[in-house]
Amino acid sequence: MKYDIKNLTLQEKIELLTGVDGWHLSNANGKLKQVAVADGPNGLRKVDDFNNNQVPATAMPSLATVANTWNKELSFLQGETIADECVKNDIDVLLAPGANIKRTPLCGRNFEYFSEDPFLAGKMARSFIEGVQSKNVGTSLKHFAFNNREYERFTQSSEVDERTANEIYYPAFKEAIKANPWTIMCSYNLVNGVYASENAKLLKTTLREKLGFKGVVLSDWGAVRHGAKAVKGGLDLRMPYEENASSEIYKGLEMGYITESDINEHVLRILELIEKSEAPKKVTYTKEERHQNAVKIASEGIILLKNDGILPLKKGKITVAGRYDSDPDIAGDGSAKVVPENKIPVLSELLAKEIDGEVIAPKLWYNAYPNRPDVSLGYKIIYQNAYESDATILLVGTGKTVEREGHDRDDLKLSTYEEELILNTAKVTDNVIVAVYAGSAVDMSNWIDKVKAVIYVGYAGEGVHEALSDIIVGKLNPSGKLCETFPLSAQDSPTEYDKGNSFVDDYTEKLFVGYRWYDSYNIPVLFPFGHGLSYSKFEYSNLNVIKKNETNYTVSFSVENTSKFGGAEVVQLYIKDVFSSVVRPEKELRNFDKIFLKAGEKKSVTFELTSEDFEYYSTVIDNWYVDNGAYEILIGASSRDIRLKEKIKIELPFETQFTQI
Ligand code: GLC
Repeated sequence: MKYDIKNLTLQEKIELLTGVDGWHLSNANGKLKQVAVADGPNGLRKVDDFNNNQVPATAMPSLATVANTWNKELSFLQGETIADECVKNDIDVLLAPGANIKRTPLCGRNFEYFSEDPFLAGKMARSFIEGVQSKNVGTSLKHFAFNNREYERFTQSSEVDERTANEIYYPAFKEAIKANPWTIMCSYNLVNGVYASENAKLLKTTLREKLGFKGVVLSDWGAVRHGAKAVKGGLDLRMPYEENASSEIYKGLEMGYITESDINEHVLRILELIEKSEAPKKVTYTKEERHQNAVKIASEGIILLKNDGILPLKKGKITVAGRYDSDPDIAGDGSAKVVPENKIPVLSELLAKEIDGEVIAPKLWYNAYPNRPDVSLGYKIIYQNAYESDATILLVGTGKTVEREGHDRDDLKLSTYEEELILNTAKVTDNVIVAVYAGSAVDMSNWIDKVKAVIYVGYAGEGVHEALSDIIVGKLNPSGKLCETFPLSAQDSPTEYDKGNSFVDDYTEKLFVGYRWYDSYNIPVLFPFGHGLSYSKFEYSNLNVIKKNETNYTVSFSVENTSKFGGAEVVQLYIKDVFSSVVRPEKELRNFDKIFLKAGEKKSVTFELTSEDFEYYSTVIDNWYVDNGAYEILIGASSRDIRLKEKIKIELPFETQFTQI
């Protein structure tokens, strides 16, 4: 190691355990390089200590939109692109990605997270980290752990049983840790009664011993309650600066509560981080290339949810209405906010260049919250234009004042004004297309049957309108699929019976998060996990399962594009334990791939299954365990659109079963 801890005084070592301001680590009186950190998951957010003077940057899609691409390469590209801008701005560590599971569709920060499913979230988080760190910029995988609501996030204790933690909430972090993130950020909340920032079982036993993390554990901003307790609990770095941080550690030393060797252990990891940050860095993208990367990811993350054939639109008189036409929401608010460097083109103007006919965009003034049109102007101008048009595109959304850090949503619906706009427009024309700008699930049940097509735009970054326009006119074939279930109502979610009492949030739904809940209990949903349409049609056939041993199988099948459009299909593999000896979800995602197929092309897809794909976490042996018995291998275009199925049977010899009983 370049830096020798013996060259540091005790004071310098203690000061290394706390930031010197909002965004920098100590440099030990000039003995060390000073490391700079900055947010965030969808673009660089470089601000001063008062969160002001934000530097404009390339506004990339939100991580939910990245996950909706189901394309790991694009998650890598997202990380690499943001890291490029970090290099340009002398930022050494990017405070991303968030890998928290979307436990409730109402969480205000769901746009910052990848999925309700740990497998999808883990794969996308790992690729993002690999992308960032390929530029010798570090990451901060966050927020560890059980930060699945914004409600009372500083004071509420997430009460989670061991099996649920290991099967639902740790796996995304476990997979992402394979990319060796330089840091992990602990969450604000308590975990089973002890603050994450001082929870030795969480930060030492689980994170280091079980999940194998070797880097620096830093706190979320202001998450540390007492410096000495954090040191003892396994936290390396307290952020941001707090004036009594050092005195608390000194007090812990005086009391014998912590020792200098405890401090040295944390300092050594921080010295290693500083040394990593000195690796050579190079800016490789121009501003335009970063913008094109944002467009590329948005292009694959926008989802066609419903289409009766009205899309793509090529010609005719088209009305485009809604404030997002010239002022789209491209991310939620909070620490993930990015000030886009590039001006976002007006959607109706892009469409006017492509559509053979006329595009009308009646202006309707909105106040920002709750997306209320200026009713003095009335909707009349829209209805009249819609009545005389061949098709009407309504641009609606949840509003970034609704989806933001520190706030959970009250429900999943659009504002009543926007639902009214949709319903009344549908009264004067049959040809309504709705584009929804949002960071998480939206309850469309009041109007979905009244419109012909729905495009889920997501929070798609500054490239949103180039991508959306190309999809609407058919220059681009949509290929996004939902990373989370869209329920018919927030009340259908198992987590909305009890938000917690501001002290305790009890994860009573246990394993039954997202489709694991809806599919296990046959609850109707608006759109299932993994759902997304294309202008192409894909046929699945020839499923073949080769048994290599009791828990290893080669699964292959064909996918054919039977349409005249080239396109991409996300194929999903789920496993079902038919007669499980413990309670298990009806099915669980165990693999996926995105297959690009020309018109008429047919490709073979192969997945390898191992024991990890069949196991559950047994609290009897405190380890993973494979049940003997019948399983089903399900190949689907979504969690509810299973195209191929094969039954298998696992018969492990008894001596490899429970050994402790
Ligand atoms: C915030 C967020 C965290 C962010 C940090 C720095 O409170 O929880 O995600 O990286 O503080 O802005």
